[in-house]
Amino acid sequence: MKALIFDLDGVIVFTDKFHYQAWKQMADEMGIYFDEQINNRLRGVSRMDSLEIILERYEGAPLSQQQKENLAEKKNEIYRNLLQTMTPSDVSDEVRETMKELRMRGYKLALGSSSKNAKFILEKVALSDAFDAISDGTNITKSKPDPEVFLKAAEYLNLPAGECLVVEDAYAGIDAAKAGMMLAAGIGEAENYDKTDYPIHSFGDLLKIAKPLR
Ligand code: BG6
Ligand code: MG
Repeated sequence: MKALIFDLDGVIVFTDKFHYQAWKQMADEMGIYFDEQINNRLRGVSRMDSLEIILERYEGAPLSQQQKENLAEKKNEIYRNLLQTMTPSDVSDEVRETMKELRMRGYKLALGSSSKNAKFILEKVALSDAFDAISDGTNITKSKPDPEVFLKAAEYLNLPAGECLVVEDAYAGIDAAKAGMMLAAGIGEAENYDKTDYPIHSFGDLLKIAKPLR
């Protein structure tokens, strides 16, 4: 193992409450039922695929592709406004120190996120320079559970997929890592997923898995 590829939402920062608020506002305006449980199904899923999940409960006239794109855009505007409130204190000391130590141990670090807002979030929390490579929603055509986002991250690092450990909180993310023939550490909900190779209870536990390379 020579590198770690981190998911963003649910691993490094916790933006699902903002996703929830933004989708909820959009759903309420359209008279669509939406709750936290449905929101859980959106983890790791792209914006347009998330919209389709929400629209499963929509009972109005059929929507055109353009109307769907407008709805996704509207949700994103609300979401970006909520992201504006993020600061470096939204990343725990444990996350920052663990990443620093992993680097000291000789590992490359990459981001593998489905979000098109990933770089904006990294800026808000002062982590823009923390990664050797960034693969996000802007460079993929298929979202998790497809492995594309992680395979791109490995490619940007110039490393074979088999030398990368993916760190994920979502089932879809663990499935994506396994589909890409990568090792997967699961945190949060993914800690108890049977496809997870390394269940971790807290971020710092990564130091038990990633021993010094030099
Ligand atoms: C993922 C989130 O990181 O990004 C998903 O877990 C979200 O819930 C996806 O739908 C896409 O995000 P964005 O920022 O491109 O709308
Ligand atoms: Mg996640």
